[in-house]
Amino acid sequence: MAEPVQTPAAFPPRIFSGIQPSGGITLGNYLGALKRFVEKQNEGIETIYCLVDMHAITVWQDPQKLRHATREGAAAFIAAGLDPARSILFNQSQVSAHVELGWIFNCVARLGWMNRMTQFKDKAGKNAEAASLGLYAYPALMAADIMAYHATHVPVGEDQKQHLELTRDIAIKFNHDYGVNFFPIVEPVIEGAATRVMSLRDGSKKMSKSDPSDQSRINLTDDADTIAAKIRKAKTDADPLPETLDGLKDRPEARNLVNIYAALAGTTPAQVVAEHAGAQFGSFKPKLADLAVAHLSPITTQMTRLMQDPAEIDRILGEGADRAEAIARPILDQVYDITGMIRSRR
Ligand code: TYM
Repeated sequence: MAEPVQTPAAFPPRIFSGIQPSGGITLGNYLGALKRFVEKQNEGIETIYCLVDMHAITVWQDPQKLRHATREGAAAFIAAGLDPARSILFNQSQVSAHVELGWIFNCVARLGWMNRMTQFKDKAGKNAEAASLGLYAYPALMAADIMAYHATHVPVGEDQKQHLELTRDIAIKFNHDYGVNFFPIVEPVIEGAATRVMSLRDGSKKMSKSDPSDQSRINLTDDADTIAAKIRKAKTDADPLPETLDGLKDRPEARNLVNIYAALAGTTPAQVVAEHAGAQFGSFKPKLADLAVAHLSPITTQMTRLMQDPAEIDRILGEGADRAEAIARPILDQVYDITGMIRSRR
C-alpha cells in the first residue's frame, strides 16, 4: 500500500524553462530566453532546459523539419554557452512525466481559466473551431513541464507571463483540492532589456518565428550580411535618438532597437540613449549591426559545427533526458499517490 505522501514545506531553488522547436531560433528567443538561461546556469543555480517538441505539434509540424529544429535548438543552446554537464538539456517527448502530469493538470485547470489565455486567441485566430485541442490545453502541459521538477523559478520573455500565472493557479488549486503543500508556487523571472523584442518591420508586433516576413526577425542562423541588411532596413522614424528614455515614449521601433542594443551590449536602454543622444539612425544602425554580428557570429559558427554531428546532439539530449527523468519520476509517483492512482507495477 502506498505510504502517506511527504509534503516538503520549502522548495530548493530550481530553474526550468523551454523553447519550442517549431522553427528557427530568433533574436527574440535568444535575448529574451537563451542568453538569460546561460546566465542563470553560470549563477550556479540548478538549471533544467527543454526543447518542447510536444508543444510544437499543437500546430502541425513536418516531422523532418521538427527533428531538424529540435537538433538545431539544442545546438543553439550549446553554442550560446549552455554546458550540458552543468545544466540538463533534453527534448520533452523523451520524459513521459510531462504528458502524464499534463493530463492530471487538464483535470485541475478550469475551462474559464483556459478561455482567458490570450496566446490561444492569438494563435487560433478567427477560426478557433479548427484549432487543435492540444493548442487549447497547451498551458496546462506547460504547467506540468515546470511542476514535474518542482521548479521554483522560470526565466521567460514577457509573452509567457500569463501562462506562468496559470501555472501558479493550477499549483494552488491542486494543493488545495488534495489538502497538500506539494507543488511550489513558481516565480516568473522576466528581466533585462529585451523581455519583449519586437518585429523589425512593425514595432507593435512581437518578433516571432511564425511571422511570414523573414525581414521581421533575425534568426540565429543568419549570416553577417543578412543580419546587417535586416537591421539597415528595420523600420524607424526620422528623429534622432533622444537624451533620455522619455523621448522614446511613442516611438516603438526606435525603442526596440535601443533595447536590442542594450541587451547585446549588456547595458541598460537608459545608458544606450545617453551614449548615443542626438545620433541619427543612419549612424546608429551600423553600430547596432556591428554589435549584433560580433555577438551572434561566433554562436552561428558553433551551431553550424555542432549540426555536422547530429548523433552527438542526440546523445547529449538522451543523457539530459535520463537525468530529467530521474528527478521527475519520483515527483510523479507522489502525484499518483496523492490523487489515488494505484501504482500496481511498483
Ligand atoms: P517560445 O518557444 O515561443 O519562446 C521561447 C522563449 O523565448 C521567449 N521569446 C521572446 N522573448 C523576447 N522577445 C521576443 N520577441 C520573444 N519571442 C519569444 C519566450 O518568452 C520564451 O521564454 N510556451 C513556451 C515554451 C514552454 C515553456 C515551458 C517555457 C513550454 N513549456 C515551461 C517555460 C516553462 C513558448 O512557446 O515559448
